[in-house]
Amino acid sequence: MTQFTRWSLAMERALYGPGGFYRRELPRHHFSTSAQTPVFAEAVARLAEEVDEGLGRPAVFDVVDVGAGNGELLGHLASLLDERARLTAVELRPKPRDLPERIAWSADVPRGVTGLVIACELLDNMPCDIAVVDESGEVRYEEVDESGETRPGDPVTGADAKWLAEWWPIREPGERAEIGLPREAKWRELAGCAETGTVLAIDYGHTSAARPAGGTLAAFRGGRGVRPVPDGSCDITAHVAVDAIPCEQVRTQREALGELGLPVDRPPLALAYRDPTGYAVELARASASARLTARSGLGAHWWMTTSKAGGR
Ligand SMILES: C[S@@+](CC[C@H](N)C(=O)[O-])C[C@H]1O[C@@H](n2cnc3c(N)ncnc32)[C@H](O)[C@@H]1O
Repeated sequence: MTQFTRWSLAMERALYGPGGFYRRELPRHHFSTSAQTPVFAEAVARLAEEVDEGLGRPAVFDVVDVGAGNGELLGHLASLLDERARLTAVELRPKPRDLPERIAWSADVPRGVTGLVIACELLDNMPCDIAVVDESGEVRYEEVDESGETRPGDPVTGADAKWLAEWWPIREPGERAEIGLPREAKWRELAGCAETGTVLAIDYGHTSAARPAGGTLAAFRGGRGVRPVPDGSCDITAHVAVDAIPCEQVRTQREALGELGLPVDRPPLALAYRDPTGYAVELARASASARLTARSGLGAHWWMTTSKAGGR
């Protein structure tokens, strides 16, 4: 028999339940993120350096990557940060064998962090409910079954209705919205784990000036967009309502990376004759940094930050 449930439960099971997508699959086999890119780690290392200086260079400086995927970001940072940096990945997956030993791996967010907490493309994967306006103009939860069929369910009430009214009002039949409360809750958890320093979440998202009328629910498999079917076969994601996140500052990745020295210039052609390998390396850095800052691509992602006592 077909079982319809709200999207939050369907996403939770499909992504994180037994045999769920993220229990089996490596993010990089299905999509590219900033955190997988070495030149992004160089910029994060510069940010860490600024936070470290702001904290007066403590004996131990934490860098915690929450939702670390295969640990790519910390893997790159391990060769960029000095031995005072204590690197911790928080991930549901097991630690990859080839990561440096100095990277600790945990399923739980640590407490009392002094340093930098970073979560790249985590909030968009926090299961959330979807609201839809039915033909009579009533706002109801959308329900979905394992084949991806949807139907309107109960009316949206309580905290969810309040959130929609404040952040994403929908009125016209067919309009849809992702209810952002679980993303706010995850942000509060991230912010709560830092005692001093900076908390940074990076994600794609939107602000009240430009909410998409049909919502943003999407799914990916093997590098391609697919129909969102919550059966564990694909990543299911929805953009973050970034202005609803209770952080201190929101700006685009392009702007934030600009302050950290990206994009880097293309190397001069003369280098290709003098040092062909060096030229190829620098060219790859320049094109990766252009990708990270592209206005219509990763550069349009949002950096949400809060600093606590001494952080940047
Ligand atoms: C889209 S991937 C991003 C991976 C990496 N940060 C990157 O940008 O390449 C999201 C990751 O968050 C992890 N994740 C989701 N919920 C989590 C939780 N509550 N605790 C730890 N990891 C979680 C998933 O297992 C997945 O690897």
